[in-house]
Amino acid sequence: MRILGISGSLRRDSHNTRLLRAAAHLLPSGVELEVWNGLRDLPPFDEDLESDPGVAVEAFRATVEAADAVLFVTPEYNAGIPGQLKNAVDWLSRPYPDNALKGRPVAVVGASTGLFGAIWAQDQLRKALQFAGANVHEEELPIGQAHETLDERGLPVDDDQRQALETILAALVELAEGAKVG
Ligand SMILES: Cc1cc2nc3c(=O)[nH]c(=O)nc-3n(C[C@H](O)[C@H](O)[C@H](O)COP(=O)(O)O)c2cc1C
Repeated sequence: MRILGISGSLRRDSHNTRLLRAAAHLLPSGVELEVWNGLRDLPPFDEDLESDPGVAVEAFRATVEAADAVLFVTPEYNAGIPGQLKNAVDWLSRPYPDNALKGRPVAVVGASTGLFGAIWAQDQLRKALQFAGANVHEEELPIGQAHETLDERGLPVDDDQRQALETILAALVELAEGAKVG
């Protein structure tokens, strides 16, 4: 089984990208995590280009379609999702309803340096993914003060948060297994 990991941060030392990479250590055996690195290369969404969006968008859609599930890890900018991540979801959502997200198992977690751990961004992202037709796991994992609460590998230092991440990953794998059977 292959899970595609998408971080909403373009920052080199991103807490969210570290968290995403570290999540691979908590996946059940036999499940691989592939981290997608193409966010910066996507053009801004343009409805005029919907049917011929160019190679970056085509490759992105194909990568998502080839994955059994997608794990999104998002920062929060001004109480919402980073624009570049919303842009990516908008590209994936078309053509609607037969798009790369349709029925695809997805989960969302997030980290921020603020107290509330990107909770509004996670909420907004789950809503957009749901609207686009993905099979969204509803649990959230807000990791606040990420500069202090992630260890050197990028995993939460707090046992409960680490356990919560593991539970979300297991639920995502279960959704994906159900989708394979069904
Ligand atoms: C433009 C901007 C807006 C931000 N807005 C929020 C916010 O609304 N809530 C929050 O918790 N953190 C906010 N932050 C702080 C981010 O959580 C912090 O920069 C975080 O490290 C970004 O994630 P990253 O480390 O994965 O790049 C903001 C940061 C920037 C640059």
